[in-house]
Amino acid sequence: MTEDANDVKAELGRLRDQVRHHDNLYYVKGEPEISDYEYDQLYRRLRELEEKHPELVTPDSPTQRVGGAPAEGFAKVGHEPPMLSLDNTYSEDEVREWDVRVRKGLDGDDVAYVCEAKIDGVAVALEYRDGVLVRGSTRGDGFTGDGITANLRTIHDVPLRLDEPPPGRLEVRGEAYMTREDLAELNRRRERDGKALFANPRNATAGTLKLLDPREVAQRPLRAWLYYVITEEADIPTQDEALEHLARWGFRVNPNRRRCANLDEVFKFHRDVEAERGDLPYNIDGIVLKVDRLAAHEKLGTTAKAPRWAIAYKFKAERATTKVESIEWSVGRAGTITPVANLEPVLLAGTTVKRAGLFNPERVAELDVRAGDTVNVEKAGDIIPYVVEVEYQLRPKGSKPTPVPRKCPACGTPLTKEEGVAGLFCRNWDCPVQARGRLELWGSRGAMDIEGLGEKVAAVLYDKLGVRDPGDLYSLEPGKLAALEGFGELSEKNLLAAVEGSKGRGLTRVLFGLGIPNVGFETATLAARHFGSVDRLTAAEEEELEAVKGVGEVVARSVVEFFRRPQVREIINELKRAGVKLEEERAAEPTGPWAGLTFVVTGTLPAMSREEAHRTVEARGGKATDSVSSKTSFLVAGKKPSSKLARAEKLGVKVVDAAAFEKMLKDTEPPA
Ligand code: IVH
Repeated sequence: MTEDANDVKAELGRLRDQVRHHDNLYYVKGEPEISDYEYDQLYRRLRELEEKHPELVTPDSPTQRVGGAPAEGFAKVGHEPPMLSLDNTYSEDEVREWDVRVRKGLDGDDVAYVCEAKIDGVAVALEYRDGVLVRGSTRGDGFTGDGITANLRTIHDVPLRLDEPPPGRLEVRGEAYMTREDLAELNRRRERDGKALFANPRNATAGTLKLLDPREVAQRPLRAWLYYVITEEADIPTQDEALEHLARWGFRVNPNRRRCANLDEVFKFHRDVEAERGDLPYNIDGIVLKVDRLAAHEKLGTTAKAPRWAIAYKFKAERATTKVESIEWSVGRAGTITPVANLEPVLLAGTTVKRAGLFNPERVAELDVRAGDTVNVEKAGDIIPYVVEVEYQLRPKGSKPTPVPRKCPACGTPLTKEEGVAGLFCRNWDCPVQARGRLELWGSRGAMDIEGLGEKVAAVLYDKLGVRDPGDLYSLEPGKLAALEGFGELSEKNLLAAVEGSKGRGLTRVLFGLGIPNVGFETATLAARHFGSVDRLTAAEEEELEAVKGVGEVVARSVVEFFRRPQVREIINELKRAGVKLEEERAAEPTGPWAGLTFVVTGTLPAMSREEAHRTVEARGGKATDSVSSKTSFLVAGKKPSSKLARAEKLGVKVVDAAAFEKMLKDTEPPA
């Protein structure tokens, strides 16, 4: 090795140590010693140096947290011993019964318990060889999970390399989770981008760990607590000491734990933790009692599903009882009519709840909930309050069933039901609530990002200045807004400048901002890249849309119907006249032997996953999509094909089996 290379190696080593040190202070200890800026400088220097010397990148370098290319599905990982679940109970009596069984199983030996907070997250396993993280996995069915090493590497609480000399072979298990605040922020981002929201931190964690692209995982703030050690190379006699070892090796160990000498202490811990529950930034759903002595674990053994040496003593869901003052029907931006119960304010899991969701008219009928009823409310996923049940015995005399509206509460248009979906809809394009909602969406950050155009201003523009749709925004006359109460010249000037500044955002944001039903940011991006201009998109038939990868039948129909509306055509014309950019760079036309051919794969192929098949097609310049249309060139039918096969046959699309497809891959000539 040359002198230079040695210098580089040494600097890389120093930088990695520094970054690791500050990561640990920041993520594990919560006591950073340098500013974010200084940290970023260190990190950037490390990354730049590694980019210049890729041969010197080590798997435990802090830069490897961000992950490389998307993974190919997940490899299976076997768990030995299996990752069992826990028996659980909500009652003190059952904990006493369990304690009796434990003592019996241990022939009356002295028993102490380690009690830990039960984190409401997703179980994960981490394997280390000589102190370096080599593999991480999910629980799966307990015996086999998914290898998600790259995803787990993105979690800063997961050490890539351990501090104190650890055993050569070590496995550590624990819980990945997300804080409530991080979930709220993630959901705000998703809402802005038109994506479905996560119901609770656990779902968000599970959904994130399953992502195929670790770079995306790195964008989402997951965390982890570790609580379980497997190794044959260290003498660890108790769970208490196992936790201490974990902390020393550099893992995050939950501070909400206590060694309890008897059940009274256990019950006190349960009460203490429950009282603190709402103040913790993450969700816990109970405590876990574990026999402290690990030799006793061996002796007690496990059932098929759970260890006999541990039990979860769960908290009852937080629930509050209050009265329904009224039931209101609100109108969403897309015309969905949603019932909401206005409540006498009540304290629930740390916040005052005044409204609770009733989901849809079907649910109102099913619960038969009425104004004046006493109801129990819970928080769904500990966030959104909803009515769980009605205390019918407390119903006041003479109360009347809640009428389901026939007309839109905002505009009076008769409401419609739609086949196959619960709920009621107002399909009046000019419904003021929907129109205001569309203006607000247009101004939102994921759309045209017009600073100042939020809910309130959208309402003022609609009510006072006759702005009916995004097109009208671009012909606002100066002086009009400034003259209104609460506004002035400056705020008008700023808003007009922001509107002007939004003209160049491009087609993706325009499509997202128009609020096309079923079209979120992702679909908007796909459509914009595929068609390149609004004119091409509005001229497209359903089939052409379906040929876009990621666009299904429902979305395709929705887009076509949307652009058929005369009102939408008029908006597009107004936008054009105003000089709003309605184009986007089209994805480069693919080249290769299969350019111009479209493939759909259905069923399973023996040699490759569907993802791989798609990539193989694309690598040859072909297009791989999910739905069959008359433009599909080939349907590749593997084992157990879906209804796509019948559709292909009906449309006269050429069908090939897996063997024929593989032969096509070997040919150098394009297929006929
Ligand atoms: S011990 C073999 N300790 O709860 C026993 N589990 O409902 C392994 N959990 O699958 C589990 N916090 O994912 C243990 N402090 C804790 C825990 C914990 C959360 C999870 C774990 C388990 C599930 C059972």
